[in-house]
Amino acid sequence: MNAVVIAMPGNERLADTLAAQLAMDRIAATVRRFPDGESHVRVEGLIHGRHALIACTLDRPDDKLVQLMLLACAVREAGARSVGLVAPYLAYMRQDARFAPGETISAQHISAWISRHVDWLVTVDPHLHRIADLSHVYSIATHVVRAAESVAGWVQSQVRQPLLVGPDEESAQWVSDVARHVNAPFVVLAKTRRSDHVVEVSVPDVERWRSHTPVLIDDIVSTAGTMMETMGHLRRAGLAAPVCVAVHAVFAHSAFDQLLAAGAADVVSCDTIQHPSNRIALAPAIAAGVRKLLPVNG
Ligand code: R5P
Repeated sequence: MNAVVIAMPGNERLADTLAAQLAMDRIAATVRRFPDGESHVRVEGLIHGRHALIACTLDRPDDKLVQLMLLACAVREAGARSVGLVAPYLAYMRQDARFAPGETISAQHISAWISRHVDWLVTVDPHLHRIADLSHVYSIATHVVRAAESVAGWVQSQVRQPLLVGPDEESAQWVSDVARHVNAPFVVLAKTRRSDHVVEVSVPDVERWRSHTPVLIDDIVSTAGTMMETMGHLRRAGLAAPVCVAVHAVFAHSAFDQLLAAGAADVVSCDTIQHPSNRIALAPAIAAGVRKLLPVNG
């Protein structure tokens, strides 16, 4: 019997694509709030004995995690053989250390919580910095979809003479990957974060790239402070207005507008979080990732 896919609110397009590409049935779910602010979930349709997948990207996670956990419980109690999660954006991976006494390492707790409720996880480029691998915090099977090839395809078709720029050492992993696919030069900067909104970036000698179009690539754009600080340095060095590419378009508050107002030639993102800047589709790559973990033949 076919496996089933269930969308958390806002994830219907992803669920539809996965259902179409993987020949899965779409099952409806009610996810709503009671007047007192608590959540109510209910799954409808035939789940008993079938493998199930919940589609739920995890930006603004505090609004979603409780409902996601309840939905996973409802799916299991309806008799699903297994419950998987497709979360194109994986939350809480940036709080990966105790930066000051009294803090907690949120990444460990959120991943333990998710691991208790689902059997497997597919995500896109999670923020792996001080945690080197998802298996260090997730106790379930995971598959990471890499956005680099899709980002490279977009850059290749849309940007003339690109110079790929990574704003910090962490970005070297995906910037170098995109550069290899595009066959373009790349530079990686050094960043120091002073607070939630303030970052300092030091830029190597970039004057020789003045004939190129800088393409800033980061995994997450939240306040856009990192991108704007980087852009300022590049412009002062005489480089052209850059194209900014985010894998995950988190864009807190007015960050997107601020980035455009700061002089970005264009702001583009992958569709891991729905946003007007989405122009790089990852659903086909995500479907391929799901195929690796979904135990349909089991
Ligand atoms: C940081 O470690 C990430 O790779 C991004 O550089 C960071 O999340 C960007 O944050 P913001 O847009 O707030 O500067």
